[in-house]
Amino acid sequence: LAGFIAGIAAAGRRASGSAPTTTIDVLFGTQTGNAEFLADELVAGAKARGLGGRATALDAVTPEQLAGMSHVLVVTSTYGEGEMPDNAGLFWEAVQATTVPRLEGLQYAVLGLGDTSYDEFCQAGKLLDTRFEQLGATRIHDRVDCDVDFEDPAALWSAAVLDRLAAEAGAQPGASVADAGAGAPATAAGGAGASRASRPGSQWNKRNPFPSRLAVNRLLSSPRSAKEIRHYEFDLADSGIEYSAGDALAVVPVNDEVFVGELLEQVGANGGEELDGQPIVDLLRTDREIRTPSKDLVADLVQRAPASELAAVVAHGDKHELDRWLWGRDVLDLLRDAGSAAPGLDELLPNLRPLQARQYSISSSPLAHPDRIHLTIASVRYGDPHRMYAGVASTFLADRVSPDGTVDVYLQPNASFGVPADDSAPMIMIGPGTGIAPFRGFLHERAASGATGRNWLFFGDQHRETDFVYEDELTELQEQGVLDRLDLAFSRDQAEKVYVQTRMLEQASELYAWLEDGGHVYVCGDASRMAKDVESALLSVIASRRGRGDDDAQSYLADMRRGKRYVRDVY
Ligand code: 2AM
Repeated sequence: LAGFIAGIAAAGRRASGSAPTTTIDVLFGTQTGNAEFLADELVAGAKARGLGGRATALDAVTPEQLAGMSHVLVVTSTYGEGEMPDNAGLFWEAVQATTVPRLEGLQYAVLGLGDTSYDEFCQAGKLLDTRFEQLGATRIHDRVDCDVDFEDPAALWSAAVLDRLAAEAGAQPGASVADAGAGAPATAAGGAGASRASRPGSQWNKRNPFPSRLAVNRLLSSPRSAKEIRHYEFDLADSGIEYSAGDALAVVPVNDEVFVGELLEQVGANGGEELDGQPIVDLLRTDREIRTPSKDLVADLVQRAPASELAAVVAHGDKHELDRWLWGRDVLDLLRDAGSAAPGLDELLPNLRPLQARQYSISSSPLAHPDRIHLTIASVRYGDPHRMYAGVASTFLADRVSPDGTVDVYLQPNASFGVPADDSAPMIMIGPGTGIAPFRGFLHERAASGATGRNWLFFGDQHRETDFVYEDELTELQEQGVLDRLDLAFSRDQAEKVYVQTRMLEQASELYAWLEDGGHVYVCGDASRMAKDVESALLSVIASRRGRGDDDAQSYLADMRRGKRYVRDVY
């Protein structure tokens, strides 16, 4: 906290103790917490420059409130295929209305977070930037669209925007602000340090991960299951890391040596070659995505082998067809397909993206397990014995960490996903498959804290016999009176499919009663189908019980979203 307090103090001196005149409204749209984190840092940076600042979720702001603001910084990620994140969708709908107030008095700038491997890169930020402009607001800084390594561009954008706002407000730009945070790692706000960034254990981050001992690696599902779901425990030792139930842990994977060897052979290299002094074999193991083909690699291969099957698929221009074709094919397959036209090592390297940490929802609670973080992960494996395809991080954890070996990790806090602040509020948790992870943590949390609110879990998977993970624990939680209701949906135990949403619809009146009692609804797991179907089920439960039609159900759910009573951790 020292940097934060020093930053505030320095700002106070500069502003000669007078109250800040300009208030910066930092509006964020976040799915996994990164945009919210940056928003907090922007507020800290604004304060360190003698400005006023507050961070608010986009959905918590109405167009009328927006029109009353003077300086707005928008930080938003993009969700799925170019959609608004969960806490920005209502805002986006509202500002598209023809009757929305104009924004002539507003100065603004937008920072987009995204991932260039998606077609609709930073779409949410682009849409908001354009809409603000259409409504007459003045853009005071160009939008920056950040790729997955967002830290540096975000820090540059933040410092530039805040310095400019401070200069205009007559406060001093951030030269001395950097001193306030001296010794601490640079933060997005240009060294000021946000409260959350400065909490204990937060020195461990993407650039400086904590080498955690993998204390437990245990198979949860039955060996006869079609899936392999594993339970992991990471020792936090004296890291100082303090997590909350609902946070995620980022795991820095190491690529499979065998696969690296195959790739090297394919490109005619031996691995001893160097790039900037680093042996290529190490670079491929620890620094590059070598499984999933990047867009650049696909484009390069099409150019090299215009008569290939890949080139034909790309020529159709149908993204879904290309995704289907690429599914189950990795970099090595594509290089082999390209035959004599395949690139060599030097030509391949620029088209391999930096290896990314993978984030997993934490499945423990610090109240029950302060010294360990638990993860619940399905190992990604498919193919046949001749050619096994393996998920990078899930099989690294499952197969390639020696007993008691260490894994580089860092915490990815998610402030918007956690047990209700009100201990008496009911929780309804919907998490099929590994979507159960955070809810195990929530239940542990409520068991340990003695919270009185009722708890209802919807869980399911393919077969009860092989896939009912944590059955013993859940039974015990039921016996203890912590888990009040457990509804199970094993999809393949009968002729017709039964999913979690089937159970929700069967329990419509009880479910609606819980909502009316102030229940919080949480969804975790597959975003592409499950989360959408669960939302439809929720809407039809609400519509059927209220009997006032679909629009009414939509606005009921929108109110829940605004009140943070409908939150999702979906991927
Ligand atoms: P299935 O594979 O038998 O179709 C965890 O993966 C569970 O989620 C499985 O039981 C799976 O069923 C189920 N599932 C698949 N699609 C779903 C959807 N659209 N909605 C809810 N559950 C789904």
